[in-house]
Amino acid sequence: MEVAWWKEAVVYQVYWRSFFDTDGDGYGDLRGVTQKLDYIASLGVDVIWLNPCYASPDVDNGYDISDYRAVMPKAGTMEDLEQLFREAQARGLKVIMDLVVNHTSDRHAWFADSKANGAKRDWYIWRDGKEGGPPTNWRSYFAPSTWTWCEERKQYYFHSFAKEQPDLNWENPQVREAIYAMMRFWVDKGIDGFRMDVINLIKKREFTDVADPFEMSYLANQPGIHDFLQEMNREVGLDRLFTVGEIPFVGPEDGLLYVGEDRGELHTLFHFEVADDMTTMDLPRFKQIQQRWFDALYPKGVASQFLNNHDHTRQVTRFGSEKFRVESAKLLGLMLHTLPGIPYIYQGEEIGMTGMRFDRAEDYPDVAFRNRYKERIENGEAPEMVLSSMQLLARDNSRTPVQWDASRNAGFSAGQPWIPVNPNYEEINVEAAEDDADSVLHFYRKLTAMRKEHPVMVYGTYRDLAPNDPYLYVYERTLDDTTWRIVLNIRDEETESVHCPDGECMISNYPDSCATILQPYEARLYML
Ligand code: NOJ
Repeated sequence: MEVAWWKEAVVYQVYWRSFFDTDGDGYGDLRGVTQKLDYIASLGVDVIWLNPCYASPDVDNGYDISDYRAVMPKAGTMEDLEQLFREAQARGLKVIMDLVVNHTSDRHAWFADSKANGAKRDWYIWRDGKEGGPPTNWRSYFAPSTWTWCEERKQYYFHSFAKEQPDLNWENPQVREAIYAMMRFWVDKGIDGFRMDVINLIKKREFTDVADPFEMSYLANQPGIHDFLQEMNREVGLDRLFTVGEIPFVGPEDGLLYVGEDRGELHTLFHFEVADDMTTMDLPRFKQIQQRWFDALYPKGVASQFLNNHDHTRQVTRFGSEKFRVESAKLLGLMLHTLPGIPYIYQGEEIGMTGMRFDRAEDYPDVAFRNRYKERIENGEAPEMVLSSMQLLARDNSRTPVQWDASRNAGFSAGQPWIPVNPNYEEINVEAAEDDADSVLHFYRKLTAMRKEHPVMVYGTYRDLAPNDPYLYVYERTLDDTTWRIVLNIRDEETESVHCPDGECMISNYPDSCATILQPYEARLYML
């Protein structure tokens, strides 16, 4: 596999509104990120992915942009952002920004003009209705229909997400040029790349009814998508940056078309075979997913490894165990940093933060949650049932503020946080983790340091030694004459293993790691 800096990188995701608040308005802000850069650098990560901080009415927490070249006042000012770039750079940290160009906000000036049948009338997707209703029976992610009627224009417009997020018409060359120009604007400001929001949705298929509207893959991966991405790559010069595409509904073979080294599209991608399709840990299936992606991509493409982010509840709660919180947080960290692909750490993951559950539907600010909840209630489902079925995977679960210390609001804000702080902050916080030599935090620092020292973690091949074992995950990474074996016991009981070799145990999450019995959520890494 060819050597490249970004393949060796670890990415840290900063959801700034929940990171650190410096002005007491209850929202984290860009200055808060800058203030905590020493902490971020101390984690040994290389790249910061900053969630959207552009001007936005904030219906979908910044994923509804009303001006791509301005900063949302809640986050701060353009000067604050430029200072963040400078200070990150001074610490050797790269910064990538979210690129949200499948849709804009309905308050974007482009949409206002389009609605009014102005010069930008074809910048969005407009259609007449059919038999008194919307043009197709398609479902959007956040609303019952992908179509909303616009009285002003007397037509329907298309939106893959909420009705406040109209989709851009990528068929229009003027739209594409405006977007590439905007991307160049940010590159000129010194950013190092983009995390591209639902980028495989920008190409639409023919607008005709589908057999099953709930099977929403018709929104994605349409023929022609690769032409758009190759054009974008050429026009903006993306090869010299770092790009990660958010690519729902993709399997490994098609994944390679987005990230293959000879494709001139993206560097890497997030697929959702785990995050969207596996409610809790199903180990045999998880192994199959890893194997299929490795087989399809290696050595031509690189995947991304993540189990949580601002859309997916915290990994300890979902795929580990709150009872064995420290052990399972370390196990999942060890796994993500030793599987093939680029590891992402979502803020707070490095201290083993847990996912929150709110008791009342009104407590969830998320537009996706609210719209779906409302739709189900209107369809006659019982409110308690709806709430309990939506609680486990609600997006807000992982959006609670970073827990810095045991003081009020976990040291996140002097004001009223926009979303409640998890009450377990007195026990789980950065300060306590710094003081504890056995904390998840120190373990994560070891993992990132090991990645820097041992190319086998980045470039090694992957071999699963026990694909059918329901509890043990045992795999080897090999590069030249170095082989590492990772042995993970993914359950809350002891498991006997025949896979623990005589080699040197480089890192483990229990003090005694020589026995052939693995403790609950025990994780070991051997050099053979
Ligand atoms: C994916 C983002 O991660 C999510 O937060 C957002 O709601 C949708 N894309 C729409 O932009």
